[in-house]
Amino acid sequence: MIQLNDVRKIYGEGESQVKALDGITLQIPDGKFISIVGKSGSGKSTLLNMIGALDNVSSGTIETDGIRIDDLPSDKLAEYRNKNIGYIFQAFYLEPQFTVMENVEMPLIIAGEDKALRREKAHKLIERLGLLDKENKKVNTLSGGQKQRVSIARALVVDPKIILADEPTGNLDVKNAKEVMDLLREIVSEGKTVILVTHNQDDAKKADITIEIQDGKIACIEER
Ligand SMILES: Nc1ncnc2c1ncn2[C@@H]1O[C@H](COP(=O)(O)OP(=O)(O)OP(=O)(O)O)[C@@H](O)[C@H]1O
Ligand SMILES: [Mg+2]
Repeated sequence: MIQLNDVRKIYGEGESQVKALDGITLQIPDGKFISIVGKSGSGKSTLLNMIGALDNVSSGTIETDGIRIDDLPSDKLAEYRNKNIGYIFQAFYLEPQFTVMENVEMPLIIAGEDKALRREKAHKLIERLGLLDKENKKVNTLSGGQKQRVSIARALVVDPKIILADEPTGNLDVKNAKEVMDLLREIVSEGKTVILVTHNQDDAKKADITIEIQDGKIACIEER
């Protein structure tokens, strides 16, 4: 379970201060599909960044499985992120000059996995995402949808408990977007927690729980 207690995030100082998160208290149960919706600038990506331990909170606490992640030292934090969280962010660029295999196995190299095992794990995911024929192609030769699938494979390769996805279908066509949504649902059915930020109402409704953010606060939580 992920527990946020009165989490605040303030960017900037003085006159130009922005309260991106303004007192978020929230429990996210394990193994659920969560969607986060809200207007542009409401704080959705900031919330995801806080849960993903990519940036520090201004105040408040975040615990996953009872462990405080908001005050971990930076070496522990890097280890926590690499082991526990898969990020599917548009801003998380792939290495364009590296092959699909090299991109997907990257988190396993960081984790110190030996080569044979890491190739085997990456290969399975590349196959699952329908990219076998592209395995040894450089990422900069792929289409947008194919690149997105590479980033999903890379997010899943360490078998993380939590997957954070910030508008993963944002610039995909209808068919590719549906495939990504189906895949996220499949990941949830394997027991993982998926947190999806989306502007698409239909996609948001496919989640078990939808959280609406307004001006850095929780406006409503809908469970289905
Ligand atoms: N690094 C930053 N420095 C200063 N202000 C920031 C920074 N990141 C976000 N903000 C501000 O914090 C607020 C929330 O931003 P955030 O990116 O979380 O919104 P969002 O809900 O993800 O929006 P969108 O739907 O457009 O992606 C906005 O007012 C934004 O301008
Ligand atoms: Mg955003």
